[in-house]
Amino acid sequence: MFVQGGVAEPKPIRLIAAACKNRGIGREGELPWNLPKEFRFFLDTITMVSNPDKKNLLVWGKHCWFSTPESLHPFANSLHVVLSRTLRAVPQHAHYICSDFDSVIRLACTPPLDDLVETIWITGGVGLYREALEHPWCDLIFLTDIMADFDCDTFFPEFDQSLYRLQDRFPGVPDEIQEECGIRYKFQVFKKDA
Ligand SMILES: NC(=O)c1ccc[n+]([C@@H]2O[C@H](COP(=O)([O-])OP(=O)(O)OC[C@H]3O[C@@H](n4cnc5c(N)ncnc54)[C@H](OP(=O)(O)O)[C@@H]3O)[C@@H](O)[C@H]2O)c1
Repeated sequence: MFVQGGVAEPKPIRLIAAACKNRGIGREGELPWNLPKEFRFFLDTITMVSNPDKKNLLVWGKHCWFSTPESLHPFANSLHVVLSRTLRAVPQHAHYICSDFDSVIRLACTPPLDDLVETIWITGGVGLYREALEHPWCDLIFLTDIMADFDCDTFFPEFDQSLYRLQDRFPGVPDEIQEECGIRYKFQVFKKDA
């Protein structure tokens, strides 16, 4: 990709989601489950920066953005970009709108954000996950395995598990099975080797 006459400095693109047994992630615009500690892990992961002068760029599909509770704002260390072809104004609490995924990459890699953005986090939904999985800078998928059946209408896309390999352990990610509200789940990280 070329940005302002030069080649863009790659930034890590990472996906994060939780999926149940049939890869389901959502129902009627909401999460099918209520797992506060799993949600806390999601928030902690996407807002963590290794350099305190940097921020993460959180990329939201329009439905995901509007289903996020107002009470969560402001997110630490974060800039929010909402993807939409129809929105005409930046939604409250967000910082940017983009009408396609390439524009998100361009936004992150040109001034003033090029020096500020550490990681590009893809928070869903499905179309965005699909596009990000194909991007050469995408290196990690954080995908919590919710070990239960839920009725879902939205599903995490299939991906090549010989390309993105499940890690036995990953720094900072608990590797034991969790249990909350009677539901067992496991944090998982899939890594694409450079
Ligand atoms: N379990 C999990 O971890 C998890 C994670 C994320 C989401 N979810 C669930 O998934 C559901 C929402 O996901 P979703 O896939 O239905 O919706 P979504 O991606 O959040 O929103 C879809 C809308 O976003 C815009 N959009 C998405 N990709 C775009 C692109 N590449 N370029 C331009 N605009 C784009 C479009 O808006 P316009 O129509 O305005 O163009 C599109 O209609 C909810 O149930 C949510 O709870 C679960």
